[in-house]
Amino acid sequence: MMAAMAAITEIPGPKGLPLLGSALDLQRDSLDAFLRARREYGDVVRISAGPPGLRTVLHCVFSAEGAQQVLASQAANFRKDNQFYEELRLSAGNGLLTSQDADYLRQRRLIQPLFTKRQVDGYATAVTLEADGTVERWRDAPDGVVDVVREMDRLALRTVSRILFGADVEAAVDVIHDNFPVISKYVTLRGYSPVNPPRSWPLPANRRAEAATRAVYAICDRIIAERRAAEATGPTTDDDLLSLLSRASSEEDGSLDADELRDQVLVFLLAGHETTATSMAFALHLLARHPEAQKRAHAEADRLPSGRTPSAADLDELPYLTRVLKEAMRLYPAAPVVGRRSVEAAEVGGHLIPAGADVLVLPWVTHRHPDLWDDPERFDPDRFTPDREAARHRYAWFPFGGGPRACIGQHFSMLESVLAVAALLRSYELEALDTEVPLAAGITLQATGPARVRVRART
Ligand code: HEM
Repeated sequence: MMAAMAAITEIPGPKGLPLLGSALDLQRDSLDAFLRARREYGDVVRISAGPPGLRTVLHCVFSAEGAQQVLASQAANFRKDNQFYEELRLSAGNGLLTSQDADYLRQRRLIQPLFTKRQVDGYATAVTLEADGTVERWRDAPDGVVDVVREMDRLALRTVSRILFGADVEAAVDVIHDNFPVISKYVTLRGYSPVNPPRSWPLPANRRAEAATRAVYAICDRIIAERRAAEATGPTTDDDLLSLLSRASSEEDGSLDADELRDQVLVFLLAGHETTATSMAFALHLLARHPEAQKRAHAEADRLPSGRTPSAADLDELPYLTRVLKEAMRLYPAAPVVGRRSVEAAEVGGHLIPAGADVLVLPWVTHRHPDLWDDPERFDPDRFTPDREAARHRYAWFPFGGGPRACIGQHFSMLESVLAVAALLRSYELEALDTEVPLAAGITLQATGPARVRVRART
């Protein structure tokens, strides 16, 4: 014990400005500030921001081993009790992403069976239908130019909505498209600012966010009420995710009531929309910027049976595209920062993190760590050949988090993104018009500018 304690040293970090600490750096470009912090101070860094008394202190953990400790081996000590998750809970409910303890365990037991590989493969029809819609839509792109950020946002939202709501997809998509960005912005702002006015004050930002949440709740509640009414008249055979969630039950856990159902629906819309959209958009944009990789991806997509859009069974035939998606998620992890709060003081990477501390693990930084990746900024899908994957630390690449709270949607997301990109590549050649895409960290990684691509129909 004494020997272990002796190895523990004080956590280094930038001093920042006398009054504000690193607040301005974080505000200007938090993603860059985190990269710099690792370069200058090492794998565990303490960053403080804000004036004394209102100071936020972030304990950033950049190594693969450290990420594993926080997310997996010491998961019970690093909980979703932080301000960001509190705010998300208030805006988007107590669903699978935000809940904890007994609520969480019950939800996970009820929902896990809906995300087995077999079940997820069944969602491929919705992916195919929507990907085909995008292939058609691009035929009319003005001057043959599309912004893949907007296009993939639309495709991912339509796909996850179709999986959730089946035939009711059209009723939901516009409401979510118009209101989710308001909720995301509000949660991000409040989640990271040291003081917030009460939500109940009649301020414009509070009012806008409340109206957005109300609109999203209303459409979800309406669809849920209609389903429940239909189920009350006799057994239904709808197999969209909402129906499956609605029917999910066990002796031990009972079933989800209408509010709980709505919270889950919101979580899936929130967690399953922007994230997959970002992965697909950057995969397409990277291919558009790297003609050699695009040629290999085209060749692979072309080997699939012609005359039909790829299905779940084809996934094994798309190893190169799978690697492209993984490499896109390395460079542009949709959840660039994952936060927790410590319960008790704990040792991570040779440093003592105090009790009640804000702790961040950062795929954004670990995915570019020079001890783990050669020439980290280079796009190279072959980093993900099975041999090279097996040779790396399990947490060198963790876009889906890890440990007991790892992403439940990861198989679905990979299925969706690989199949949709394959469908688009079968029909189009891509040429990048924008090389740099400006980024910012919201709830998820956001492209703040367009990623325009010229698309040429292939013969
Ligand atoms: C590229 C796509 C995706 C990425 C990068 C991603 C990333 C993540 C990450 C990092 C977490 C862990 C958060 C934490 O530990 O604090 C998470 C959790 C979760 N994700 Fe995803 N996600 C993606 C797609 C999806 C999809 C498509 C769905 C659902 C349809 C989904 C649903 C969830 C849920 C419900 C959780 C909470 C799981 C739990 O705590 O048991 N995600 N995701």
